[in-house]
This record gives sequence, C-alpha cells and structure tokens, in this order.
Amino acid sequence: MNLTQRQRAHLFFTWSAQDRARTMEIINADRARFEVAGKGWVWDLESQVYNVNVGHKHPHVQARMIEQIGELPACAPNGVLKIRATLGELLAEHTGMAKAFLTTGGAEAVENAIKIARLATGRTKVIARRSSYHGATLAVLEIAGDPRKQPFAATMRAPLHIEDPHPARAPTARRASDWLESLHELLAREGAETIAAILLEGFTGTNGMQHPPNDFWPGVRAVCDAHGILLIDDEIFSGFGRTGRWFARDRWGVEVDMMTIGKGLTSGYAPLAGVMVSDALAQRFDDEVLWCGLTHYAHPVSCAAAVGSVEVLASEQLPENAERVGQVFERRFAEMIERHACVVGQRGFGLMRALELDRGAEAVVAKAWELGVFLPSRGGMIWVCPPLCLRGDEAETIADLIEAAIVGA
Ligand SMILES: Cc1ncc(COP(=O)(O)O)c(C=O)c1O
Repeated sequence: MNLTQRQRAHLFFTWSAQDRARTMEIINADRARFEVAGKGWVWDLESQVYNVNVGHKHPHVQARMIEQIGELPACAPNGVLKIRATLGELLAEHTGMAKAFLTTGGAEAVENAIKIARLATGRTKVIARRSSYHGATLAVLEIAGDPRKQPFAATMRAPLHIEDPHPARAPTARRASDWLESLHELLAREGAETIAAILLEGFTGTNGMQHPPNDFWPGVRAVCDAHGILLIDDEIFSGFGRTGRWFARDRWGVEVDMMTIGKGLTSGYAPLAGVMVSDALAQRFDDEVLWCGLTHYAHPVSCAAAVGSVEVLASEQLPENAERVGQVFERRFAEMIERHACVVGQRGFGLMRALELDRGAEAVVAKAWELGVFLPSRGGMIWVCPPLCLRGDEAETIADLIEAAIVGA
C-alpha cells in the first residue's frame, strides 16, 4: 500500500466522493511553493486553503509555536496566559475592534457572531448574499447561499438573501445600485425591525470575487444604523492582508459591529478563528452572560501561531506587498485579455484575484500543473491567491507559466 492508499483507508477527504478525491502527497513546502512526491516543486496559487498568508514554513511562526509547546501546550479556556493577552492586544491593534471570541474554525466563528447578534438584539433573522459562503456547519449553511447546502436544504428555513453584485449596475443620483436596492426591497418585505444582523464577506471569495458598487458598504451601514441591525463583516477569506489591506473592508472605510476572522489569522499553522466585536458590544457582556464556549477556546499553540503570523504580516509589510505584487498580475492579465480571445476578464484586489475564461478552465489548470503551477478554479474562473510573501519577479514567472498554459491548453 502506498501512502495515499493507507490514508484513504481510514481518513475521509473533504467535499468529494472518496474515490474521486483530488489528492497529492505533499512532502515539503517553502514560502510560496510546495513539493509533491514524484513531481517536484509547484507554485501554490491556493495558499493551501487560501490561508498560508505569511508563506510556508516561516521560521518566526514556527519558533513562536515551539516556544509555546515547551512552555504550556494545553490550558482550559479561562486560563490566563501571556500568549492569549498578547494575541488580544495584537488583534485590537490591527482590527480597531475591542474584543475577540476565539474558535477553532471559521464556521464556528460565524455561528458565534450570529449567537452574539441574537443575544444583543433579541431578534433572530440574518440576511446574507445569494451565493455567499460562510462555512459548512448546518446553522451557517442555512443562512448562506453557496450550493453546497443543497443536500441538507429540505429541512432548512428559507434564507434571506440579497442579490450578488455581478454584474452590478452603478448607482446614479436617483437610484442606488442593484445590490443595495435588493437590500432595501428585502427589508421592506421582511420588516427591518425583525432583522438581527446582515452578514457579508469583506470581499467575496470563490463564489465570484465580485467588486461591490461604491454605494454598497456605506449604504448597508446606514440601513443598519437606521434600524438597529448589526453589521457582521466576514473577513475569514479576505482578511490579514489578502486583498492588499489588512482587511478588505478597509477599502470602503466603513465601521462594523462584528468581524469574523480565520484562515490567515494563523496562516494555517494551527486551527484558530474568531469573532471580533465593537466596544459597545463588548461592554454589553461585562455583566450579561456570554452564552458561548468551547473546549479548545484560545488554544495556546494556536494563539502562538496567530501571534507569530500577525507579527510577520506587520514586520514584513505583507499587506502592502500583496497590493504591489497584485498589480503585477493585474498588468499581466490585462495583456492576456488583449492577446488571447479565450481570456475574457479579471477581478480582484491584492493577491485575491480571478482570471475569467470563456470556457471551463480544466484544460488550462491541467497544463499549468504540468508546468509547475497549482491553480484552483471553478467553472471558467481561475483563482490566483498565492502566499503574500510572493515577490514581483516570482509573479512575473507565474504569469509567464499561466500564459504558456493558456496557449498550450
Ligand atoms: C468567507 C468565509 N467564511 C467562512 C468560512 C469557513 O471557514 P472554515 O472552513 O474555517 O470553517 C470560509 C471558508 O472558506 C470563508 O471563505
């Protein structure tokens, strides 16, 4: 039995029939590449699961984790530890929000945000975007729109969805954008006073990388203020520098009541996610019970991974680097759109980008793999989300390889 067969025998792979799971034996990794047994080194344009933001095997993150393992690797949720206090301070500094409730994964973070919204408002309904993804637990699938909810949808409550912004009609002096208009219509129909929260990705991920119209975030904020609705920004995918800002929402300068974080928080070195809340929400729970908890709350080794990763993002200015290197891809993709009829568009910010083909991307993805580039894709969209430590010259190399794959496919 080879290693893949041994693993397949007793561990499930995710999101697939087990016999058709796309697997690879990864034997090493370094910065923006990983090494596959029998193949060699490939560029990692998915950052594993869009989470290895600082890059693979960063010595500072590894050292932080090893130090914590030596000092104290396990501790009950309410134990007071230096690494927990340090992480809280770093998160407050970089998010501008008051307090975090930490979880092991993103879906749990979103669930806890919803629980907090229900506790704070006494209302139960949550509005989300039609094709949004916020995680794979039942409660979160029910609220979101991603098609992966379908096998369970029969027993779920009807979701409250606003439209996707693509293609978005820009706002005019007399009328809001389609996207914002769909929110106004939904609120009028449902009763704004019954809504606990509006949950939106800071910047939408694999279901489209859709650029919101300019009136959207400010318009949603105004609606929330007018009706006592809490605004939850899900930055699990788009946060920690991925879009060329610490958080995607920073582009619109809008304040939110809660923000969910995950993935790049630890750069995937250990499981950790969370929900950050505003000062007003934090104070509310000074003497009201916060009905939230879990065994691996603020796990010490995960906190060390997060402290290490956030320190690297700041000291190496990786959000700024993502913005700069993203511009290399933007220029190269614009040239490809000019040169190749099958390349019809591009979207994105920083190193959260998509290239759009006029056909299914399978052949280009297969050719790119032959050439040493691992490209995630869906339908005719190719995602370009490498670790944020990628250099400009490396982006040029990858763009050459993607173009060769498009020509050779
Ligand atoms: C925007 C967004 N929210 C939530 C999640 C769920 O995170 P997790 O897979 O850690 O539960 C994801 C995961 O891809 C995501 O992209």
